[in-house]
Amino acid sequence: MAQLSGETRVLGVIGHPVGHTSSPAMHNAAIAALGLDYVYVAFPVRPEDLGQALAGIRALQIRGLNVTVPHKVGVMALLDEISPEARTIGAVNTIDHSEGRLIGHNTDAFGVMQSLRLDGGLDKLPLRVALLGAGGAARAILYGLLQCPEVENVALLNRTADRAEALAAALDPEGRRVVPGTLDEHSGKVVGQAGLLINSTSMGMHPHPDASPLPDPTCLHPGMVVLDIVYNPLETLLLRQARQAGARPVDGLGMLARQGARAFAIWTGMEPPVEAMRAAALERLGKPSA
Ligand code: ATR
Repeated sequence: MAQLSGETRVLGVIGHPVGHTSSPAMHNAAIAALGLDYVYVAFPVRPEDLGQALAGIRALQIRGLNVTVPHKVGVMALLDEISPEARTIGAVNTIDHSEGRLIGHNTDAFGVMQSLRLDGGLDKLPLRVALLGAGGAARAILYGLLQCPEVENVALLNRTADRAEALAAALDPEGRRVVPGTLDEHSGKVVGQAGLLINSTSMGMHPHPDASPLPDPTCLHPGMVVLDIVYNPLETLLLRQARQAGARPVDGLGMLARQGARAFAIWTGMEPPVEAMRAAALERLGKPSA
Protein backbone atom coordinates (compact mmCIF):
# COMPACT_ATOMS: atom_id res chain seq x y z
CA MET A 1 0.00 0.00 0.00
CA ALA A 2 1.24 3.50 -0.77
CA GLN A 3 2.27 5.76 2.08
CA LEU A 4 -0.76 7.34 3.73
CA SER A 5 -0.50 11.11 4.09
CA GLY A 6 -2.37 14.08 5.47
CA GLU A 7 -3.97 14.36 2.05
CA THR A 8 -5.13 10.74 1.77
CA ARG A 9 -8.82 10.52 0.99
CA VAL A 10 -10.91 7.78 2.55
CA LEU A 11 -13.30 5.42 0.78
CA GLY A 12 -15.02 2.45 2.33
CA VAL A 13 -17.91 0.06 2.68
CA ILE A 14 -20.59 -0.08 5.38
CA GLY A 15 -22.38 -3.32 6.15
CA HIS A 16 -23.13 -5.77 8.95
CA PRO A 17 -21.30 -8.08 8.90
CA VAL A 18 -18.67 -6.66 6.59
CA GLY A 19 -15.55 -8.76 7.25
CA HIS A 20 -16.19 -11.13 4.33
CA THR A 21 -16.41 -8.41 1.67
CA SER A 22 -13.99 -8.39 -1.25
CA SER A 23 -14.51 -4.66 -1.85
CA PRO A 24 -11.41 -3.47 0.09
CA ALA A 25 -9.20 -5.86 -1.92
CA MET A 26 -10.73 -4.71 -5.23
CA HIS A 27 -10.62 -0.99 -4.55
CA ASN A 28 -7.19 -0.91 -2.93
CA ALA A 29 -5.88 -2.81 -5.97
CA ALA A 30 -7.40 -0.14 -8.21
CA ILE A 31 -5.93 2.64 -6.05
CA ALA A 32 -2.48 1.00 -6.20
CA ALA A 33 -2.67 0.38 -9.96
CA LEU A 34 -3.40 4.06 -10.57
CA GLY A 35 -1.06 5.36 -7.84
CA LEU A 36 -3.81 7.44 -6.20
CA ASP A 37 -3.69 8.92 -2.70
CA TYR A 38 -6.79 7.10 -1.44
CA VAL A 39 -7.43 4.26 0.97
CA TYR A 40 -10.48 1.97 1.15
CA VAL A 41 -11.59 0.40 4.43
CA ALA A 42 -14.47 -1.72 5.75
CA PHE A 43 -16.69 -0.17 8.45
CA PRO A 44 -18.94 -2.56 10.39
CA VAL A 45 -22.12 -0.56 11.08
CA ARG A 46 -24.97 -2.06 13.11
CA PRO A 47 -28.46 -1.23 11.81
CA GLU A 48 -29.24 0.89 14.87
CA ASP A 49 -26.11 2.97 14.27
CA LEU A 50 -26.75 3.78 10.62
CA GLY A 51 -27.82 7.38 11.28
CA GLN A 52 -24.73 8.06 13.34
CA ALA A 53 -22.52 6.46 10.71
CA LEU A 54 -23.92 8.76 8.02
CA ALA A 55 -23.38 11.79 10.26
CA GLY A 56 -19.82 10.57 10.75
CA ILE A 57 -19.23 10.31 7.03
CA ARG A 58 -20.19 13.95 6.69
CA ALA A 59 -18.11 15.05 9.69
CA LEU A 60 -15.03 13.03 8.71
CA GLN A 61 -15.37 14.00 5.06
CA ILE A 62 -15.18 10.44 3.84
CA ARG A 63 -15.15 10.72 0.05
CA GLY A 64 -17.38 7.81 -0.83
CA LEU A 65 -18.84 4.54 0.35
CA ASN A 66 -20.20 1.28 -0.84
CA VAL A 67 -23.28 0.07 0.99
CA THR A 68 -23.98 -3.60 1.53
CA VAL A 69 -26.38 -5.82 3.45
CA PRO A 70 -28.40 -4.86 5.47
CA HIS A 71 -28.23 -1.11 4.71
CA LYS A 72 -28.99 -0.82 0.99
CA VAL A 73 -32.59 0.26 1.53
CA GLY A 74 -32.39 1.89 4.98
CA VAL A 75 -29.66 4.29 3.91
CA MET A 76 -31.90 5.92 1.30
CA ALA A 77 -33.83 8.00 3.84
CA LEU A 78 -30.56 9.51 5.13
CA LEU A 79 -29.18 10.82 1.82
CA ASP A 80 -29.53 14.26 0.18
CA GLU A 81 -30.18 12.94 -3.30
CA ILE A 82 -30.80 9.59 -4.99
CA SER A 83 -30.14 8.86 -8.65
CA PRO A 84 -33.23 7.97 -10.70
CA GLU A 85 -31.74 4.53 -11.32
CA ALA A 86 -31.22 3.82 -7.60
CA ARG A 87 -34.71 5.13 -6.85
CA THR A 88 -36.32 2.78 -9.37
CA ILE A 89 -34.21 -0.16 -8.20
CA GLY A 90 -35.14 0.78 -4.63
CA ALA A 91 -31.65 0.33 -3.20
CA VAL A 92 -28.37 2.22 -2.93
CA ASN A 93 -25.00 0.45 -3.12
CA THR A 94 -22.78 3.51 -3.61
CA ILE A 95 -22.67 6.91 -1.89
CA ASP A 96 -20.88 9.83 -3.51
CA HIS A 97 -19.98 12.48 -0.91
CA SER A 98 -19.46 15.56 -2.96
CA GLU A 99 -19.50 19.23 -1.92
CA GLY A 100 -21.14 18.37 1.38
CA ARG A 101 -23.93 16.34 -0.19
CA LEU A 102 -24.50 12.60 0.01
CA ILE A 103 -25.74 11.23 -3.31
CA GLY A 104 -26.96 7.64 -3.60
CA HIS A 105 -26.33 5.50 -6.68
CA ASN A 106 -26.90 1.89 -7.63
CA THR A 107 -24.17 0.42 -9.83
CA ASP A 108 -25.46 -3.17 -9.93
CA ALA A 109 -27.50 -2.81 -13.11
CA PHE A 110 -24.54 -1.20 -14.88
CA GLY A 111 -22.27 -3.99 -13.59
CA VAL A 112 -24.43 -6.82 -14.86
CA MET A 113 -25.09 -5.22 -18.25
CA GLN A 114 -21.36 -4.55 -18.76
CA SER A 115 -20.58 -8.13 -17.79
CA LEU A 116 -23.11 -9.52 -20.26
CA ARG A 117 -21.62 -7.36 -22.99
CA LEU A 118 -17.91 -7.78 -22.26
CA ASP A 119 -17.68 -11.15 -20.46
CA GLY A 120 -20.66 -12.78 -22.20
CA GLY A 121 -19.96 -11.36 -25.67
CA LEU A 122 -23.52 -10.06 -26.01
CA ASP A 123 -23.39 -6.80 -27.96
CA LYS A 124 -27.15 -7.07 -28.15
CA LEU A 125 -29.24 -9.06 -25.74
CA PRO A 126 -31.55 -11.79 -27.08
CA LEU A 127 -35.30 -11.24 -27.46
CA ARG A 128 -36.10 -13.68 -24.68
CA VAL A 129 -34.42 -13.74 -21.27
CA ALA A 130 -35.06 -15.93 -18.22
CA LEU A 131 -34.24 -14.39 -14.83
CA LEU A 132 -34.26 -16.65 -11.77
CA GLY A 133 -35.00 -15.01 -8.40
CA ALA A 134 -36.97 -12.00 -7.24
CA GLY A 135 -34.86 -10.47 -4.45
CA GLY A 136 -32.78 -7.31 -4.34
CA ALA A 137 -30.26 -8.53 -6.92
CA ALA A 138 -33.04 -9.55 -9.32
CA ARG A 139 -34.56 -6.10 -9.07
CA ALA A 140 -31.36 -4.37 -10.22
CA ILE A 141 -30.84 -6.92 -13.00
CA LEU A 142 -34.43 -6.62 -14.21
CA TYR A 143 -34.06 -2.85 -14.28
CA GLY A 144 -30.96 -3.25 -16.47
CA LEU A 145 -32.66 -5.73 -18.81
CA LEU A 146 -35.66 -3.42 -19.29
CA GLN A 147 -33.32 -0.61 -20.34
CA CYS A 148 -32.50 -2.73 -23.42
CA PRO A 149 -35.18 -2.20 -26.07
CA GLU A 150 -34.23 -5.43 -27.87
CA VAL A 151 -35.40 -7.51 -24.89
CA GLU A 152 -39.04 -8.28 -25.63
CA ASN A 153 -39.74 -10.86 -22.97
CA VAL A 154 -38.32 -11.58 -19.52
CA ALA A 155 -39.53 -14.73 -17.78
CA LEU A 156 -39.13 -13.89 -14.09
CA LEU A 157 -39.10 -17.17 -12.15
CA ASN A 158 -38.96 -17.42 -8.38
CA ARG A 159 -39.56 -20.07 -5.72
CA THR A 160 -42.15 -17.73 -4.17
CA ALA A 161 -44.43 -16.70 -7.04
CA ASP A 162 -45.88 -13.72 -5.14
CA ARG A 163 -42.48 -12.04 -5.03
CA ALA A 164 -41.99 -12.51 -8.78
CA GLU A 165 -45.44 -11.02 -9.43
CA ALA A 166 -44.75 -8.03 -7.17
CA LEU A 167 -41.38 -7.35 -8.81
CA ALA A 168 -42.82 -7.65 -12.32
CA ALA A 169 -45.65 -5.25 -11.42
CA ALA A 170 -43.18 -2.75 -9.92
CA LEU A 171 -40.82 -2.52 -12.91
CA ASP A 172 -43.22 -3.35 -15.75
CA PRO A 173 -46.56 -2.00 -14.51
CA GLU A 174 -48.29 -2.46 -17.86
CA GLY A 175 -47.22 -6.10 -17.98
CA ARG A 176 -45.87 -5.87 -21.53
CA ARG A 177 -42.45 -7.45 -21.17
CA VAL A 178 -42.10 -9.30 -17.86
CA VAL A 179 -43.90 -12.60 -17.30
CA PRO A 180 -43.69 -13.73 -13.66
CA GLY A 181 -43.84 -17.40 -12.76
CA THR A 182 -42.80 -20.11 -10.35
CA LEU A 183 -39.36 -21.65 -10.39
CA ASP A 184 -40.10 -25.39 -10.28
CA GLU A 185 -39.71 -28.60 -12.25
CA HIS A 186 -41.90 -27.14 -15.03
CA SER A 187 -39.62 -24.12 -15.58
CA GLY A 188 -37.53 -25.92 -18.20
CA LYS A 189 -39.86 -25.12 -21.09
CA VAL A 190 -39.75 -21.36 -20.65
CA VAL A 191 -36.03 -21.33 -19.78
CA GLY A 192 -35.30 -23.38 -22.90
CA GLN A 193 -36.84 -20.67 -25.08
CA ALA A 194 -34.50 -18.01 -23.70
CA GLY A 195 -31.22 -16.95 -25.30
CA LEU A 196 -29.97 -15.68 -21.96
CA LEU A 197 -30.44 -17.19 -18.50
CA ILE A 198 -29.45 -15.28 -15.35
CA ASN A 199 -29.42 -16.76 -11.85
CA SER A 200 -29.88 -14.10 -9.18
CA THR A 201 -30.81 -16.50 -6.39
CA SER A 202 -28.30 -17.58 -3.78
CA MET A 203 -28.66 -21.24 -4.74
CA GLY A 204 -25.34 -22.93 -5.45
CA MET A 205 -23.44 -20.55 -3.19
CA HIS A 206 -20.93 -21.82 -0.64
CA PRO A 207 -21.58 -23.85 1.58
CA HIS A 208 -24.13 -25.50 -0.76
CA PRO A 209 -22.18 -25.95 -4.01
CA ASP A 210 -24.27 -28.98 -5.00
CA ALA A 211 -27.47 -26.93 -5.29
CA SER A 212 -28.77 -25.45 -8.53
CA PRO A 213 -31.74 -23.12 -9.00
CA LEU A 214 -32.72 -25.05 -12.11
CA PRO A 215 -34.41 -28.37 -11.30
CA ASP A 216 -34.00 -29.69 -14.85
CA PRO A 217 -30.79 -28.70 -16.67
CA THR A 218 -31.79 -30.39 -19.94
CA CYS A 219 -33.30 -27.08 -21.08
CA LEU A 220 -29.81 -25.52 -21.32
CA HIS A 221 -28.71 -25.40 -24.93
CA PRO A 222 -25.84 -24.31 -27.20
CA GLY A 223 -26.09 -20.67 -28.19
CA MET A 224 -27.42 -19.73 -24.76
CA VAL A 225 -25.49 -17.43 -22.42
CA VAL A 226 -25.82 -18.38 -18.74
CA LEU A 227 -24.79 -15.82 -16.12
CA ASP A 228 -24.68 -16.83 -12.47
CA ILE A 229 -24.23 -13.92 -10.07
CA VAL A 230 -22.95 -16.37 -7.44
CA TYR A 231 -19.13 -16.16 -7.48
CA ASN A 232 -18.24 -18.44 -4.58
CA PRO A 233 -17.65 -21.05 -5.98
CA LEU A 234 -16.63 -19.43 -9.25
CA GLU A 235 -17.99 -22.32 -11.29
CA THR A 236 -21.36 -23.16 -9.79
CA LEU A 237 -23.24 -26.33 -10.58
CA LEU A 238 -25.46 -24.28 -12.93
CA LEU A 239 -22.43 -22.97 -14.84
CA ARG A 240 -20.94 -26.45 -15.04
CA GLN A 241 -24.21 -27.75 -16.47
CA ALA A 242 -24.28 -24.82 -18.90
CA ARG A 243 -20.75 -25.59 -20.10
CA GLN A 244 -21.60 -29.28 -20.53
CA ALA A 245 -24.69 -28.34 -22.56
CA GLY A 246 -22.61 -26.19 -24.93
CA ALA A 247 -23.94 -22.90 -23.55
CA ARG A 248 -21.62 -19.99 -22.71
CA PRO A 249 -21.07 -19.73 -18.94
CA VAL A 250 -20.37 -16.32 -17.36
CA ASP A 251 -19.35 -16.25 -13.69
CA GLY A 252 -20.39 -13.62 -11.16
CA LEU A 253 -16.94 -12.12 -10.70
CA GLY A 254 -17.34 -9.90 -13.76
CA MET A 255 -20.49 -8.31 -12.38
CA LEU A 256 -18.82 -7.87 -8.98
CA ALA A 257 -15.76 -6.17 -10.47
CA ARG A 258 -17.77 -4.01 -12.87
CA GLN A 259 -20.23 -2.70 -10.29
CA GLY A 260 -17.24 -1.85 -8.12
CA ALA A 261 -15.45 -0.22 -11.04
CA ARG A 262 -18.45 2.00 -11.68
CA ALA A 263 -18.42 3.17 -8.05
CA PHE A 264 -14.68 3.82 -8.28
CA ALA A 265 -15.22 5.97 -11.38
CA ILE A 266 -17.95 7.96 -9.59
CA TRP A 267 -15.65 8.75 -6.64
CA THR A 268 -12.34 9.35 -8.42
CA GLY A 269 -13.37 10.43 -11.91
CA MET A 270 -10.72 7.99 -13.20
CA GLU A 271 -11.03 5.13 -15.67
CA PRO A 272 -11.05 2.10 -13.34
CA PRO A 273 -8.57 -0.77 -13.90
CA VAL A 274 -11.27 -3.46 -14.08
CA GLU A 275 -8.90 -6.37 -14.64
CA ALA A 276 -6.83 -5.46 -11.56
CA MET A 277 -10.06 -5.29 -9.57
CA ARG A 278 -11.25 -8.65 -10.86
CA ALA A 279 -7.87 -10.26 -10.11
CA ALA A 280 -7.90 -8.86 -6.56
CA ALA A 281 -11.41 -10.19 -5.94
CA LEU A 282 -10.36 -13.58 -7.28
CA GLU A 283 -7.32 -13.67 -5.04
CA ARG A 284 -9.53 -12.73 -2.09
CA LEU A 285 -11.62 -15.79 -2.90
CA GLY A 286 -8.50 -17.88 -2.46
CA LYS A 287 -8.03 -18.72 -6.11
CA PRO A 288 -4.96 -18.04 -8.25
CA SER A 289 -5.40 -14.82 -10.23
CA ALA A 290 -3.92 -16.20 -13.46
P1 ATR B 1 -30.59 -10.73 -2.79
O1 ATR B 1 -30.71 -9.32 -2.33
O2 ATR B 1 -29.19 -11.26 -2.78
O3 ATR B 1 -31.27 -10.97 -4.10
P2 ATR B 1 -32.82 -11.83 -1.30
O4 ATR B 1 -33.58 -10.58 -1.45
O5 ATR B 1 -32.82 -12.52 0.03
O6 ATR B 1 -31.28 -11.61 -1.64
O7 ATR B 1 -33.28 -12.87 -2.44
C1 ATR B 1 -32.81 -14.17 -2.49
C2 ATR B 1 -33.37 -14.87 -3.72
O8 ATR B 1 -32.89 -16.21 -3.73
C3 ATR B 1 -34.88 -14.96 -3.73
O9 ATR B 1 -35.34 -14.97 -5.06
C4 ATR B 1 -35.13 -16.31 -3.05
O10 ATR B 1 -36.36 -16.90 -3.35
P3 ATR B 1 -37.68 -16.57 -2.45
O11 ATR B 1 -38.15 -15.21 -2.89
O12 ATR B 1 -38.64 -17.65 -2.79
O13 ATR B 1 -37.21 -16.60 -1.02
C5 ATR B 1 -34.01 -17.11 -3.67
N1 ATR B 1 -33.65 -18.28 -2.87
C6 ATR B 1 -32.88 -18.30 -1.75
N2 ATR B 1 -32.77 -19.55 -1.29
C7 ATR B 1 -33.49 -20.36 -2.12
C8 ATR B 1 -33.76 -21.76 -2.19
N3 ATR B 1 -33.25 -22.61 -1.29
N4 ATR B 1 -34.53 -22.20 -3.20
C9 ATR B 1 -35.03 -21.37 -4.13
N5 ATR B 1 -34.83 -20.03 -4.12
C10 ATR B 1 -34.06 -19.53 -3.14
